[in-house]
Amino acid sequence: MSRWLTVWRAAQLVGVSRGALQQRVRLGELTLSDGRVSTDELLALYPETNLADSGMLERVAQIKEEAFGRRVRERLLPSQEVLAQRIFSQTQELADVRRYLQRYHSLVVDIGRRVKLLRHQPAADGDLRELEHFIDRGLAQALATEQADPLTVMDDMLKVMMAQVTVRPSGNEFCVEGHDTLLQAGLRAGLKLSYGCGNGTCGMCKVRVIAGQVAKTQAFDYPLSEAEKAQGYTLMCAHTAASSELTLELLEARGPQDIPMQQIVTAVRAVRNLAPNTRLLHLQTPRSHRLRFLAGQSVTLGFARSDGSDVHGTYPVASCPCDDRNLHFFIEEHPNDPFAKALFSDAIASGLSVTVHGPTGEFVLREGNRPLVFAVCDAAFAPVKSLIEHALALDEAPSLSLFWLATRSDGHFLENQCRAWSEALDQFEYELTQDPDPVAGARQVGRAMRADLFDIDCDFYLAGPQAFVSALQEELRTAGVPKSQISSHVVAEPVGETV
Ligand code: FES
Repeated sequence: MSRWLTVWRAAQLVGVSRGALQQRVRLGELTLSDGRVSTDELLALYPETNLADSGMLERVAQIKEEAFGRRVRERLLPSQEVLAQRIFSQTQELADVRRYLQRYHSLVVDIGRRVKLLRHQPAADGDLRELEHFIDRGLAQALATEQADPLTVMDDMLKVMMAQVTVRPSGNEFCVEGHDTLLQAGLRAGLKLSYGCGNGTCGMCKVRVIAGQVAKTQAFDYPLSEAEKAQGYTLMCAHTAASSELTLELLEARGPQDIPMQQIVTAVRAVRNLAPNTRLLHLQTPRSHRLRFLAGQSVTLGFARSDGSDVHGTYPVASCPCDDRNLHFFIEEHPNDPFAKALFSDAIASGLSVTVHGPTGEFVLREGNRPLVFAVCDAAFAPVKSLIEHALALDEAPSLSLFWLATRSDGHFLENQCRAWSEALDQFEYELTQDPDPVAGARQVGRAMRADLFDIDCDFYLAGPQAFVSALQEELRTAGVPKSQISSHVVAEPVGETV
């Protein structure tokens, strides 16, 4: 019998992205009913998911050799306590189903017995005989041993290893794996959650549990009132999912307008050369204060020199909000950028305190599931890297294409990252272009896009100097791309500010 699964769960089971399944729905190859897809149609589309045609035990043995088996082995298991709770709730569910089945079976047998008695009475007619046969046939069918649907078996197995969380009212879903807290898992899945300290002190990650159970992962100081506890409120940063399915009520940020300005003193974790004039600055926020921002946004960095002067610079964050306490920046050397000058003169080194103020900027992912196209010039790859990581976490875009123009010979300083994405992900492709002139380079990128993307309904994200962004905007508008599908981030020329 077919079972109905959410798109998220179905994608997990057959090992493809949600975007790929949604694309199949759009093409009419898969039916979506009430947000769910049937295991029958799924198996027809992905027959390799069928582990074997033989019995259950053989199937379990074969799991070791199958792709699903690999996916299972790659997963981190939750703590023993959480695992025990999930197995317990699964077993309880199974026991309930078994009890109901036994009762239904007894009821049907009883009805059959009564019909038989009635049929032997003188007034019995053909209808009763027909009913008796109907019940006998039905029972025989119900008792016939039929192979369990492999997707159902796999789904039950995955449920123990990782919990599925549904968020109300947005309907978003994410999974909790290993020792992750609900907050870590939600951020990893690209959700725009509210949080502050990350260690149970501020109460900003408070949510209401509507269905399912949670387990505490760490002690917390934030005082939940008795009334809040009675209503099911909990802290996402201090709990994980104890049941295989959990429904939470929480408000996610809709966009940059919902993210408050913050000021955090961070520590320099590392400085690394990416290219002769581009450095990676890796900052780490304190354990008790994480930066809340959206992928693609910028922050202002500042530090105090020994002479008391402050040095500032505003840069896009290159890492994903899901990267816990880590903040990455790609900073280019520039004579008018005092912060960059300090970085390249090694005045900014491991252990230094750097103040982060922000976030700012509207260059964030739009809602929707169109293919995503990114075009960047030089170090403007930073906000795009953050957007790509966010899009991959959301797993909703059917495809991601990156066009990276370098105006210098060493401009593609993270080519290996692009190669790694493209090797690991079917839906990611990239093209590197070189031209010393950003406008001529933008035209080249436009031509490359025109080759296969202008006819598709895509969302475009452009980042680079004004000349590059303007030239590409013109290309896209000429090709008929609506303005609402183009987002731009212009890298401002540093003006040199030391206070
Ligand atoms: S209590 Fe501060 S983020 Fe959870």
